[in-house]
Amino acid sequence: MAEVRQSPAAREARLAVLMGAERPLVTPSLLNCDFARMAEELEALKQAGTIAVHLDVMDGHFVPNFTYGAPVIKDWRPRTDFPFDTHLMMSDPGRYLDDFIRAGCDVIIFHIEAVPEPTPLLRRIRAAGCHAALALNPPTPVSAIEPFLDELDAVLVMSVMPGFGGQAFEPSVLEKVRTLRAARPELPISIDGGINPTTAAEAVAAGVTQLVAGSAVFRNDGNYAAALAELVQGARRGIE
Ligand code: DX5
Ligand code: ZN
Repeated sequence: MAEVRQSPAAREARLAVLMGAERPLVTPSLLNCDFARMAEELEALKQAGTIAVHLDVMDGHFVPNFTYGAPVIKDWRPRTDFPFDTHLMMSDPGRYLDDFIRAGCDVIIFHIEAVPEPTPLLRRIRAAGCHAALALNPPTPVSAIEPFLDELDAVLVMSVMPGFGGQAFEPSVLEKVRTLRAARPELPISIDGGINPTTAAEAVAAGVTQLVAGSAVFRNDGNYAAALAELVQGARRGIE
């Protein structure tokens, strides 16, 4: 089963599910869940209506925190068909890229602040059959990624400084979303950090198509279905 879900055909199928999913799409971030019970957490997220999950990889260098890496993701892959939207908060993503591809990641996002000349890496990601995306931190202007838009399947706009869940949404990044949306009407744009039903609506109104949510999903009552439904409802208010 592990090999099956790590095969190119399985990845293609997962990416087709991701691309075919209704927008705006909410992707739970696997940062605040119970890592000792990941298989059950993935099943609970599925029952709650999740379509894809966001994986936060932190290296303790690019960001002041550690999470998990390719060996852990590889062990999750046989447990779920969820597309893995993989956010590499790493100083040197190129060094470990092949590990993440082999582990079964589907969308691979790295930071323009870490790799100012990203074209070779973006092409390696796409050549492996994955989707390639660039993330930009709140202080980084859209002009930093503009030359590379043709090499990208998506952009991830950070609405907090990466490193920790549970931070407050930075509304000034919405201007960047509007700029990107105006430049590329069809580009998938994700937003990450401080998303709740209210900020989800604002983000979607600015042009976001995918919302990453950590603490708003993994809240104290443990009701993932209710949390997701509230986020989706909030997000849809943004298109009305
Ligand atoms: C932040 C991570 C986010 C984080 C979001 O560094 O990239 O994906 O998990 O968490 P919340 O939704 O709690 O801001
Ligand atoms: Zn993230």
